[in-house]
Amino acid sequence: MRPLALVTVLALCGPLSSARGQISAPDDGYDLWLRYTRVADTARLAEYRAAISELVVTSGEPTMQAARDELALGLNGLLGRPVPVADAPTRDGSVVVGTPANSRTIEALPLAAALREAGPELNVVSAPRYSLRLLDHWDNLDGTVERGYAGASLWEWARLPDSISPRYRDYARANASIGINGTVLTNVNANALILTPAYLMKVAAIARVFRPYGIKVYLTARFSAPIEIGGLATADPLDAGVRAWWAAKADEIYRTIPDFGGFVVKANSEGQPGPQDYHRSHADGANMLADALAPHGGIVMWRAFVYSSEVPTDRVMQAVDEFEPLDARGAFRTNVLIQAKNGPLDFQPREPFHPLFGRMAHTPLMMELQITKEYLGQDTHLVFLAPLWEEVLRADTYAPDPRSDVAARIRGLAGVANVGSDRDWCGSDFNQANWYAFGRLAWDPMLPSAAIAESWVRMTFSNDPRVVRPVVAMMLASREAAVNYMTPLGLAHQMARGHHYGPGPWVAGGRADQTSVYFNRADSIGLGFDRTPTGSNAVRQYAAPVRARFTSRDSVPDNLLLWFHHVGWIEHLRSGRTLWEDLLQHYQAGVDTVRWMQRTWDGLDGLVDADRFRRVQGFLRIQEAEARWWRDASVLYWQSFSHLPLPPGYEASAHSLEWYRQLRCPPDPRKPRCKPS
Ligand code: GCU
Repeated sequence: MRPLALVTVLALCGPLSSARGQISAPDDGYDLWLRYTRVADTARLAEYRAAISELVVTSGEPTMQAARDELALGLNGLLGRPVPVADAPTRDGSVVVGTPANSRTIEALPLAAALREAGPELNVVSAPRYSLRLLDHWDNLDGTVERGYAGASLWEWARLPDSISPRYRDYARANASIGINGTVLTNVNANALILTPAYLMKVAAIARVFRPYGIKVYLTARFSAPIEIGGLATADPLDAGVRAWWAAKADEIYRTIPDFGGFVVKANSEGQPGPQDYHRSHADGANMLADALAPHGGIVMWRAFVYSSEVPTDRVMQAVDEFEPLDARGAFRTNVLIQAKNGPLDFQPREPFHPLFGRMAHTPLMMELQITKEYLGQDTHLVFLAPLWEEVLRADTYAPDPRSDVAARIRGLAGVANVGSDRDWCGSDFNQANWYAFGRLAWDPMLPSAAIAESWVRMTFSNDPRVVRPVVAMMLASREAAVNYMTPLGLAHQMARGHHYGPGPWVAGGRADQTSVYFNRADSIGLGFDRTPTGSNAVRQYAAPVRARFTSRDSVPDNLLLWFHHVGWIEHLRSGRTLWEDLLQHYQAGVDTVRWMQRTWDGLDGLVDADRFRRVQGFLRIQEAEARWWRDASVLYWQSFSHLPLPPGYEASAHSLEWYRQLRCPPDPRKPRCKPS
């Protein structure tokens, strides 16, 4: 059941929390947006206190009890006094929580008529657009988190199932408040041990905590598990013994966790085992697991992030080449979803939408977004991701359907979580906004980024317009700023090797399609990857109108120019400037925007509590220095091909190209990047 009451508290939070002119209360970040501080506007406080006299929850259902607890916590905090909890309404101003099925009081209310009378202004009806709204944790059983920048894994495997961290419940509360209804507990680079009986008991303990909040647990399934923990000689999906093993494993899982959601699978990708190891197709692999789960109502989310180890073709084309023919044959079982990342490469600051979203006629699709900012400044940079997600959700695939935008082509959203054991969950105050935004968009993919940012700021910082307006403006500008200082004009994958922190446009060697030079194609003529028919022809994977728009230099959007075209350094763009001039301008604009964010934040001194003010200020200082690092390293590297001068007045680089090439990002033992050697 969906915990409606939690949503009610959130709705109250905006107007009730601190009023104009108040400094936000100190905050270590633990409470996230569920921050129930007393209403500061005294007139409002009196009004609300008079309006809410008691809380009535009659149902003993766990979800109703959770709603009661959240309402009591919220109202006690917001009103600054305990609100009595009663079994039945005893006076005016009772807040009655329940449904017609579990509350006599509500059953007796002429609700339909009352709601009709309330008129269209009362916006109380809200239903999620997708039934699958999941956080995918890339958490390993040893407590590390792949691409995690907020401490260790939340899941304390060694202590489970007997010791239950209070954080599990608080995590569930936060998720339920934004409508997230599933958690994939483990890394896509999976460990088969999670499927052993001892671990399943631990998973069951977490599932018990999540259940009242309407959150199901899911696991990643390692394709070779029948060999590794089952003692079989093969994991061939057409082998009868292997199929029986998975069927028995699914039975065992559901005996332990009756509402288990299903599996996420990364197969034949980046060295992970999969059906192709046995010359079988992705459909053979997915269907085997789907058949095992089907009797229990479970699903398989089979990832489309696959690329062959032979590098036969442009990497961004491989998912469509692999999955479209299978879809065309209707090869997948009905409980299989194909899960594609938002773009065809890998969570870059900007990519075009994944062509798979326009190509699958039969098989349902999930979209995977990355909340953790692997390629976008990781823990320190302030980058609000809702505009990135909004861009792809609204992109038109021109698929032959009545509604052809990406949002309409998918059945669910999975977000790679940015949550860890750090006290503030996400490693920074502003990273929390991305968790929040993900949940809101999974519920309603058409919500504008600005509305999401505003409600987050109001619940997290303040209702004071002197805070709300500038902070929302910073958030909305931040993604384009990062694109500009990292990978402007459609560049992609220019990060340092492996950890992806900081610039590395010179990265070469090793597997070609994991290097920067593969993607930037810089040479003495120009820059960019020709994906038109004269190049890799990746544009062929888009529907005709999209293909035409991306193929023509007259219509390709500037912000994807170098994704699709190799452009001469002194060729003129639509701006009238040459590529070289435009590139320089974008890098500088990125740095300038970060400086503007710094000035804007500095202007909030005294309006935001000192702790958070200083924390954000410190991170913005890092971001400004690193935006310059990105700009200077990139411009110097491109200049080594273009041999063109910097215009007079262009901010000169502090160091030589060689200096940047030698630079190693500062080791931080708490972060997966730049491990001290
Ligand atoms: C990226 C990321 C990996 C991850 C992979 C995936 O390549 O860097 O850490 O495993 O995506 O999504 O499977």
